[in-house]
Order: sequence, then C-alpha cells, then structure tokens
Amino acid sequence: MAGTETAAERVFTPEFFQDPHSVQAVLRAEAPAREVVTPNGLRVWIVSRYEEAKAVLADPAVRKNSAGLRAAIARNRADVRKAPNGALDLSQHMLSMDPPDHTRLRRLVTKAFTARRIERMRPRIEEITAGLLGRLSAGDEVDLLDVFAFPLPITVISELLGVDHEDRDEFRRYSNSLITTTGPEEARATGSWMATYFTELIAAKRAAPGEDLLSALIETSEDSDRFSERELVSMAFLLLVAGHETTVNLIGNGVLALLTNPEQLGRLRADLSLMPGAVEEFLRFRSPVNMATFRFTAEPVVLGDVTIPAGSVVLVGLGSANRDEDRFEQADRLDITRPVGGHLAFGHGIHYCLGAPLARLEGEIAFRGLLTAFPNMKLATPVSELRWRASVPIHGLEKLPVVL
Ligand code: HEM
Repeated sequence: MAGTETAAERVFTPEFFQDPHSVQAVLRAEAPAREVVTPNGLRVWIVSRYEEAKAVLADPAVRKNSAGLRAAIARNRADVRKAPNGALDLSQHMLSMDPPDHTRLRRLVTKAFTARRIERMRPRIEEITAGLLGRLSAGDEVDLLDVFAFPLPITVISELLGVDHEDRDEFRRYSNSLITTTGPEEARATGSWMATYFTELIAAKRAAPGEDLLSALIETSEDSDRFSERELVSMAFLLLVAGHETTVNLIGNGVLALLTNPEQLGRLRADLSLMPGAVEEFLRFRSPVNMATFRFTAEPVVLGDVTIPAGSVVLVGLGSANRDEDRFEQADRLDITRPVGGHLAFGHGIHYCLGAPLARLEGEIAFRGLLTAFPNMKLATPVSELRWRASVPIHGLEKLPVVL
C-alpha cells in the first residue's frame, strides 16, 4: 500500500509535470480511479485507464454544468480559498454545459464553424506557415515555440475569429496564466481582462460585421435569438483559448517526439505522405491535453472495484489513457505507422473537440513546412534540460530550443 500512496502523492508535483507519463503508468497499474489533491487544494478523482476514461467521458452521470461543478468544487476544497469571483462569468460556453444547453450551443456553433470554413483556411494556413518559416535560416538557434509553434495557431484562430494582431501578445500572457497554477488574485485579474476584452470585441463585430467566425456567430444568434450576449462572449473566449493553447503543443510535442526518435523522423522525411498518421501518433504519444477539463459526478460512478461517490470532482487522464498498454501495443513507443484512430487526445462523447479538423490541418501543414524547410533541425539542449509547464490540463514545453 505504501507504493500506492506514493504514486497518488506524486501527481501534480514538479516531478509529475516534468514526466507525467511515468507517474500515470503507476496510477493505471494500481486502480481504475484514485483520489488526489491538486496544487490549488482541491480533492479530485483521477481516471487513468483507457476503457474507464472513455466510459466516464460518455457517462451522463458525469457532468460539466458550471453550477453543479462549482458546488462540487466547494465541497471538495481542502482549504478556505475562494474560487475567482464569478461577476465576470466566462463559463457560459458549451464546455461548461450538459444537454440540453450543450446541444443547443454546439448546434449553433457548428452552423458557423463549418468544414467549408475550415477547408477555406488551408491556403491561408500554408501562407502563414511559409511566412513564419521564411523569417528563419538554417543554423539559427531559436525557441521553436516562440518563433513558430505559438504564432501559427494564434494567428490562424485570431484570423478565423476576427481578432486584431496587436492584441495577441497580451492575450498570450493572460491565456498562459489561465492554464498554469496561479493564485486567486491572478486568476481574477485574468478573468476580468478576458471578459472585458471579449465583450468589447463582440460589440465591435456587432457594429461592423466581417467575414469572420465571430460575425457569423452573432448573425446566427440574431436569426434565432438563442445565443445570449454572455454566451457569445464565453464562446469567443473558449474558441480562442482552446484554439491555441492546444495546437501550440501538438507542434512542440510532435517536434520533440521526432527529434528524439531519429529513425521515425527519417521515415517521415523520406515519405511525407505518412503525415496524417504521424500527426495522430503525436497526439496519442504526447497528448497536448493531458487531462480533460473538470467534471463532477451527479450519481455514484462505479469503475471496476472503485466507486466514485456522487458530488466528486473528476479529471480524466487523456494522455494516460493514450499510453495504456491494454489498448495500444508498445504504448510508450512513438510509431508513426501504427494503425490510426481510437486515441482520446480530442476527448470523447458530446464534448469531443470541435476544432479537431482545424487542429489536424494546422498540424499537417506545420510539420510538412518545418521538415521541408529545415531537414537538419536538432535539439539545442539535452532533453533532460527541457522544462514542462506546470499546468493540470496542458502538457507542453516552456521552451523548445533547436538549431534549425
Ligand atoms: C474540446 C483537445 C484544438 C475547440 C476539446 C477537448 C479536448 C480538446 C480534449 C474535450 C475537453 C473535455 O471534454 O473536457 C484539443 C487538442 C487540440 C485542440 C489536443 C489541438 C491539437 C482545438 C481548436 C479549436 C478547439 C483548434 C477551435 C478552433 C474546442 C472546443 C471544445 C473543445 C470549442 C469544446 C467542445 C464541446 O464542449 O462540445 N478539445 N483541441 N480545439 N475544443 Fe479542442
């Protein structure tokens, strides 16, 4: 039993953020679910195995609506710190809702976020990629996240939504504080900045609609009168944050996976038609969203010999499920030719990632561009010196120093 406690205690320590997969391997071996405490003092149940993760994501007893989640969080908080003030509420979006509200909002967004709109972005994504890579030269030592992996998706999602270029650096700063472990003061300041920012943006789009997605969302809401102002603001916020914090790390984690597996890199470089499968494998191997967003149990949930009580907070370990040996053969090995599909990197069930087609498109264009422009790219520091962000949901590097 001592070993059991040790593994649970290691979750969310600096050691965990540096190497979540080895801690998660122990968690998977031990039990279908474990209760642990987050850096913010919250007791949560972690589900780490593939089958159980999938079952929980599809279980209607495991919910996301913000009122229920707030109550569950209050009940499971080990200290007296208050959650950020809800006066500027950004949680009226579909990732904080259950059916039927979720169904209504998802349908409305899907109307505007069409496959055609995404496919229309292809030449523009290629152009942005070429533009970013064109500023770099072989032999340069750069932080690849800074010069490429960050600017590409933020430019794409900003253009899609219709957000100004000038606001992006500030946006990046606040977005980072949103997903890393910060105190309540900083969380409040971030929430406040984001809410003001998106409220003003929606007002500007109302006054002068464009060709962008946000204008299309406003139009949808005016047609049907079913998207409230607060829902629109929250949706814009969700799309911008979900649209870049994740894709940055698909690129960063994928490049690292290739540079540390030269044989796989050689194969991909020799045959770029392997790219779609390679992108799926990067998503599985180092999932950018290591843990799905918070859920709560409305009823007791039985997973094998463990029962998660009603009213508990639940985190589903997507990155862990994707390394489960019972589902993926030699799960800790990068294999860009393994049969694709089945990974949980985009989630599962009703909250399955809305942006998956866009993320895949960006990933394919980004890796193709990088491998073609810089065939001799190498890590500029030993792997052991790389630092990972201290984020519960996101698994991504702080910096990725490479020689191009
Ligand atoms: C939901 C991952 C890119 C928009 C999700 C979820 C995951 C995920 C795991 C489910 C979260 C949960 O159930 O708790 C990823 C990854 C990406 C990516 C790994 C990149 C590699 C994007 C992009 C966009 C986007 C580019 C938008 C343009 C969304 C939205 C949801 C979502 C709106 C909520 C869907 C709902 O609640 O119905 N994503 N995402 N994502 N993602 Fe993504």
